[in-house]
Amino acid sequence: MSGAAPSAVSQPANFEFTPDNMEKAKKIIAKYPAGKQASALLPLLDLAQRQNDNWLPRAAMDHVAQILEMPPIRVYEVATFYTMYNKEPVGKHLVQLCRTTPCWLRGSDGIQKACENKLGIHAGETTADGLFTLMEVECLGACANAPMVQINDDFYEDLTPESMEAILDALARGEKPKTGSQTGRQTSSPAGGRTSLTDAGEA
Ligand code: FES
Repeated sequence: MSGAAPSAVSQPANFEFTPDNMEKAKKIIAKYPAGKQASALLPLLDLAQRQNDNWLPRAAMDHVAQILEMPPIRVYEVATFYTMYNKEPVGKHLVQLCRTTPCWLRGSDGIQKACENKLGIHAGETTADGLFTLMEVECLGACANAPMVQINDDFYEDLTPESMEAILDALARGEKPKTGSQTGRQTSSPAGGRTSLTDAGEA
């Protein structure tokens, strides 16, 4: 193992892809031309993070560096640049709260308060039971359905404090809440119904 740890958290001594994930890694690498295997860095880091309870220890970065024949420092540079890679352990449900202008104008302050009240934690913290981590993030690209949060791989949109609390309650019970718009509109179509192409689909 080489290089300095990117953070002070307790780091596992070793990391290796499972046989299944190693097969996936080989398939990802094979998508790129010979000699350009470094292009597979982002998806391999993502694969490593998913294998390791949604966080990326230094040993995993070193393992990926070894596979891609890259200096470890180049892997650390990438892993520490992108916020989607968690350099510290996170809860089972990682709640990423969008605080950028469109979500803020549509009530992200109330969504944040709902999360803090329900979970008893602030941004950057994890609940004592390890179920939830709350994180503030910048625009997640779903502004038309603001305010919204991302929890692990899913978006929850058109939130109110009440629907936010209901989602957190459902996750705490081990359920899978409905993703996407919480008001029932189709994707990001107008909240009040169609205003154009109103006869679309009719003969
Ligand atoms: S501002 Fe929140 S998704 Fe864009």
